[in-house]
Amino acid sequence: MRIGILGAGDMAQGLGAHWVKAGHEVKLSHRDESAEAAAFGDVILVAVPAEAVPEVLGATDLAGKVLIDCTNAIIPGEWTVRTSMARRVAELAPEAKVVKAFNLCHESVWKRQYPHKLVPICGDDPSAINLVKRLVADIGCTPAEAGPLSRAEVLEAAAAFVIGLSVAGFDPRAAVDM
Ligand SMILES: NC(=O)c1ccc[n+]([C@@H]2O[C@H](COP(=O)([O-])OP(=O)(O)OC[C@H]3O[C@@H](n4cnc5c(N)ncnc54)[C@H](OP(=O)(O)O)[C@@H]3O)[C@@H](O)[C@H]2O)c1
Repeated sequence: MRIGILGAGDMAQGLGAHWVKAGHEVKLSHRDESAEAAAFGDVILVAVPAEAVPEVLGATDLAGKVLIDCTNAIIPGEWTVRTSMARRVAELAPEAKVVKAFNLCHESVWKRQYPHKLVPICGDDPSAINLVKRLVADIGCTPAEAGPLSRAEVLEAAAAFVIGLSVAGFDPRAAVDM
């Protein structure tokens, strides 16, 4: 598969390296290279800061593409969110098939040789969800279908909450059990 990544930072490098190892063709992009990465990929990962998303998506043609959104618009100090980035991405790229994934773990997780994580996925398009499930499995992780794209808001709030716990010196993994 050809994967275009909007961004060349920590998330782009971590996930991109795993997908290369799995045999995919991957193109990362710095801030002036978004259009090339978008044209290159059949599937696109949005991995830029939340505040850069409108500008980056405005510079790309994403019609018909599967768009994986890993962005979080977390308010530092409050450790909450006021905007669903997945909804925002879907509004900015209405002809793309948006799937939320990879927003819940710190970027360092994707730089491990074997991340072994459960990756919740929210989306509305069954074929796009199946494709992202395959990309999750390709990096040695387990995909978890977690409902429609509207539920991504909860997933993004969960990221804000666990980051807040972590910043306060607690291990969020110790707080979850069933
Ligand atoms: N870091 C984490 O642990 C983590 C975890 C989960 C989700 N996320 C989300 O993933 C996204 C990417 O995070 P990251 O940690 O990979 O970020 P990062 O390391 O800071 O990299 C950001 C990338 O975005 C590019 N970019 C494009 N337009 C930009 C602009 N106007 N301003 C700033 N950068 C711009 C940068 O381009 P240049 O290369 O030209 O600088 C850079 O390649 C964020 O939305 C974040 O919320 C991050």
